[in-house]
Amino acid sequence: MNMDLLNTYIFQNPFVGITVTDGNGICLTVNDAQTRITGIPKEKIIGKDLKKTVKDQMLSISSTIEALKTKQEVNLHQVSAYGRAYDVKGLPIFDDAGRLVYTISYIVEVTELERFQSYVREREMDRENMRDQVPVILAGARSKEGIVYNSAAMRDIINLAVKVSESDATVLITGSSGTGKELVASLIHKCGDRADKPFIKLNCAAIPENLLESELFGYAAGAFTGGDRKGRRGIFEAANGGSLLLDEIGEMPMSLQAKLLRVLQDSEVTRISSETPIHVDVRIIASTNAPLQELLTEKRFRKDLYYRLNVIHIDIPDLQKRRDDIPVLIAYFIDKFNKKYNTAKIIRRDVVNFLASAEYPGNVRELRNVMERLVLQSGEGEIRLSDAFTVLNGMNLRESCMSPLTVEALENKSLKKIMDDYERQILNRFMEMYKRSDEAAKRLEIDRSTLLRKLKKHNL
Ligand SMILES: Nc1ncnc2c1ncn2[C@@H]1O[C@H](COP(=O)(O)OP(=O)(O)OP(=O)(O)O)[C@@H](O)[C@H]1O
Ligand SMILES: [Mg+2]
Repeated sequence: MNMDLLNTYIFQNPFVGITVTDGNGICLTVNDAQTRITGIPKEKIIGKDLKKTVKDQMLSISSTIEALKTKQEVNLHQVSAYGRAYDVKGLPIFDDAGRLVYTISYIVEVTELERFQSYVREREMDRENMRDQVPVILAGARSKEGIVYNSAAMRDIINLAVKVSESDATVLITGSSGTGKELVASLIHKCGDRADKPFIKLNCAAIPENLLESELFGYAAGAFTGGDRKGRRGIFEAANGGSLLLDEIGEMPMSLQAKLLRVLQDSEVTRISSETPIHVDVRIIASTNAPLQELLTEKRFRKDLYYRLNVIHIDIPDLQKRRDDIPVLIAYFIDKFNKKYNTAKIIRRDVVNFLASAEYPGNVRELRNVMERLVLQSGEGEIRLSDAFTVLNGMNLRESCMSPLTVEALENKSLKKIMDDYERQILNRFMEMYKRSDEAAKRLEIDRSTLLRKLKKHNL
């Protein structure tokens, strides 16, 4: 065994004070930590008989004396008059003949150790912040059939969707553009027993009114000049046994709404120019980002159809109202686009926090676009804060209203007020990004106390 190494790493470690005596209690040696922790100079203790010389309350020494006396291991914990806490262990060491030949005592100042532990924890946190967050965040994300989420609101929606998938009940899915209505519709289809049957989507707004009817219900042979001679089946027939998503149902013309209602009630379609009804078994999911209630009062949407569709209503909130989903979606999209573009971009905690604090009026679709651009536009290896600034600015998101020079920002305000407002926005933003005042202060190169004072001034 290399005694120098042993001496350096075990005996001369900075935290544990060590005292060694012979079997009679004569102190053979102490290490530097012991001297620092106890405050007893080495010359006052080495070579001395601890039983005689030391009558004070020095714990490491009394543990030695205890060990000598009892010939057993001694463990003590004591708080000093100055509020410092110590853990002490005294060990008797025996030779082969069972004679007590040495004692060793260890003393650890718990308060010091705690300080050190919190220092280590902080360093670990720094390291954690620097580390790629994609796998870290994804490890805590939930997902179902390509829907990634973390918010309670989304969890309830997924549970409801899975539950209703077991029935054939008509579902109405509402929510702003880009919130994931189509994904939830497809989840309902995939979880039910129609999963291996067709899932057909029809965007009611994308098809001209005169064609929508034949799209939906088909037409009989000879119905149109130029049409298919044998006639053609409509979407209802194509979706038979499966599910049909009628997207943007709010855009459906009134005339067709009545026909649709009839199909829903009778489970029968009749092709244009035909007399023969055809039985269809289709699960209907309707979705819209239009305010259906308004359309109802404006009489642009039939009440009877509304009630027929609205058996089960799933409303997906804007991303703004379920911000817990944003970080997991950020990580999910980076991972997805890394795979798509064969890149290996990483992202740090502060950049995730920054992106997560922005607003995405276009909801998940917009967030997805931002992340795609970031993966493509960021430099080698890492998505940096500056990349995030650039991309968000380029997309005219909330960053732009941080500008101190917009009309609203300047109107009727003194220079002091403008500067104050701007300072408030900056501090708010940095606190969102860094979460902790010490980190934000470091980044802004000001004292933490200055930052705290300013935060207080701005009520942040
Ligand atoms: N929770 C989610 N997890 C993963 N991807 C999502 C999620 N929500 C939405 N997306 C993605 O965002 C985009 C928009 O979703 P989707 O098409 O379902 O929205 P929508 O509500 O139907 O929008 P619109 O009203 O404009 O048709 C799609 O690329 C979709 O894959
Ligand atoms: Mg859609």
